[in-house]
Amino acid sequence: MRVGFIGDIVGRPGREMLKHYLPKLKEEYAIDFLIANYENASHGFGLTPKNADELLSYGVDLMTGGNHTWDKKEIIPLFDSHELLRPHNYPEGVPGTGCKIYEVAGEKLAVLNLLGHYGMPISDNPFICAKQSVEKLHQDGIKNIFIDFHAEASSEKRAMMMLLQGKVSAIVGTHTHVSSDDLQISKNTAYLSDIGLTGCRDNVIGMDEKVPLKQFLTGIKGHFDIPKKCKKILQMLVMDFDDGKCSRAFKIKQFDNQQRIKTDAWIEEE
Ligand SMILES: [Fe+2]
Repeated sequence: MRVGFIGDIVGRPGREMLKHYLPKLKEEYAIDFLIANYENASHGFGLTPKNADELLSYGVDLMTGGNHTWDKKEIIPLFDSHELLRPHNYPEGVPGTGCKIYEVAGEKLAVLNLLGHYGMPISDNPFICAKQSVEKLHQDGIKNIFIDFHAEASSEKRAMMMLLQGKVSAIVGTHTHVSSDDLQISKNTAYLSDIGLTGCRDNVIGMDEKVPLKQFLTGIKGHFDIPKKCKKILQMLVMDFDDGKCSRAFKIKQFDNQQRIKTDAWIEEE
């Protein structure tokens, strides 16, 4: 099966990039299942029901969350009606789930969403949650496992890779909005510390730079806003999974001026 993944979609510019490019990218690369992170999709903070429907209509099959999952409270009933995840290691009793299983191209695919610890809201230990969840999936005979690890610290993301390489198909980081340059396949597991945002690319993490600049110059906090106009990017990872193993992975950077850059994963030798 071929799986696509888009990280943090930031506000209307991010949604516009999906509208304009996702249907053709999905077709061109013959993607069977497309996962995207929704947590910044509605004006940078959370997801509204309207925007959830909009993103699913562009060809997203499942959406993952993070620390901004609960910013728009209207999201809560959507966990019963829409293809949405929230981090699996949120405390017990929280609405929704962080793990779902799908039938894709004749095989089963599990998608697991986890939240890191550093700088993040209270949650259960993501490493213990990941280990137990993957063991349970394996017991149930599910081999193709994709993980969106929504975390600030690259050390946590690398540690998750060390814990689970060879046991899952892919571990991809989200949250920093800045893409890292370490796409690899190690022990048949694809890994990228952070896929980077989809949205505005010419400011501060997809947000207008005025407020962050004032904040860093003066220490006075303000509300981050989505720019009215900006240069945009869509960043997508494409991965081939078979019997739990990732055999090929490449990253696409689609710019709003039609330019496209494709980067292949390096294969780590045993
Ligand atoms: Fe986040």
